[in-house]
Amino acid sequence: MRILITGAGGLVGRTLSDYCIRLGDEVLAYDRSRLDIANEAQVELIVAEAKPEVVINCAAWTDVDGCESDAARCKAVNEVGPENLARASRNADALLITISTDYVFDGTKEGFYTQRDNPNPLSVYARAKLEGERRAQYTHARTTIVRTGFVFGRGGKNFLSTAVDRIRRGEKVKAIANAWGTPTYANHLARRLREVAQLDLPGLFHIVNSGNGTNYADFASKALQLAGCDLANLEVVLLESVSRPAPRPKNSRLRCLLSDALGLERLPNWEEGLAQFVQDITSKIHTNA
Ligand SMILES: NC(=O)c1ccc[n+]([C@@H]2O[C@H](COP(=O)([O-])OP(=O)(O)OC[C@H]3O[C@@H](n4cnc5c(N)ncnc54)[C@H](OP(=O)(O)O)[C@@H]3O)[C@@H](O)[C@H]2O)c1
Repeated sequence: MRILITGAGGLVGRTLSDYCIRLGDEVLAYDRSRLDIANEAQVELIVAEAKPEVVINCAAWTDVDGCESDAARCKAVNEVGPENLARASRNADALLITISTDYVFDGTKEGFYTQRDNPNPLSVYARAKLEGERRAQYTHARTTIVRTGFVFGRGGKNFLSTAVDRIRRGEKVKAIANAWGTPTYANHLARRLREVAQLDLPGLFHIVNSGNGTNYADFASKALQLAGCDLANLEVVLLESVSRPAPRPKNSRLRCLLSDALGLERLPNWEEGLAQFVQDITSKIHTNA
C-alpha cells in the first residue's frame, strides 16, 4: 500500500511508520515540521502530490491539560485537522483513517464502552477530538475512525517509559488507582491499523488490547515489577486527589462491536503487550549502558 502517515514523529505515528515499512509498504511519513494538519493549503498540496491510497492521521495535540488553556490551538489541530485531511483525501480519492480517543466518553458507565454508547466528552481536548471525528466523516464518506486509549510503546512522551526511568533515578512516581482503561500496545495498534486500512470500510472502530482493562496504579506496578524496579517509590493516589486542569473519565474501557462482527481476531491481552514493551525498553537501557 502507498500510505501517507501524519504525526509521524509521535508515539503511534512512528510505530506505525516503522511497522508498515517493515512489511514493504510505500510509506510517506510526515512529522509536524513537514506537514501541519491545521494548515489547509499545505494538507491539500501534500496529499494531492503524494497520491496515497490511504492517509492515516496520527497527528494530534495530545497535551490534554494544555488544551484547556489554549482551546483555539486544540480546535485547529484536533478538530479542523481531521477535516482538512478528509477534504484532501476525498479530492485524492484516498481512504482516511483518523485516530480518536476513549476520552470522548464521560466515564460514568460501568463496564466497556462500545460504538452503541453516546459520547459525552468532559474536556476541551475530548470535545475537539469528537468534533474532529464528526467533521472528517461528514466531509469524506471514505473515513474510518479508530478510537483507542491508554497507549504505551517506545518513543514519544508516555507514562510508562518515564515512570521506569524516574523510579530508577530514585524519584517518586504517582499512579492513580481509581481510573480504569483498556491499555493498548502501540505495536499491536499499528498492526490493527494496517488491517483496517486493507479492509477499506468506513465506520468506527474501538481498538485496544484485549483483557478486562486495568487502572494506572496496577498498570504501573506490573510494568515496574517486570522491569525489576523497586515499588517503594510508587505512590498510589486517587483521581480526586490529583489536581489537573482537564477532567478525565473515571472509566474509559473500550470494546469493539465492529471488529467482533467482522471476525477480526482480538488483539493480544495488554499484559502480553506490556511484557514485550518492558523487554524492549530494558534491553535498550542495557545496550546503552
Ligand atoms: N497516547 C494515548 O494514550 C492515546 C490515547 C487515546 C488516543 N490517542 C490518540 O492517538 C493518536 C496518536 O497519539 P500519540 O499517542 O502518538 O501522541 P503523540 O506522541 O503526542 O503524537 C502526536 C504527534 O502529532 C504531532 N502534532 C501535533 N500537532 C500537529 C499538527 N498541527 N500537525 C501535525 N502534527 C502535529 C505531534 O508533534 P509535536 O510533538 O512536535 O507537537 C506529535 O508528534 C492521537 O490522535 C491521540 O489523540 C492517544
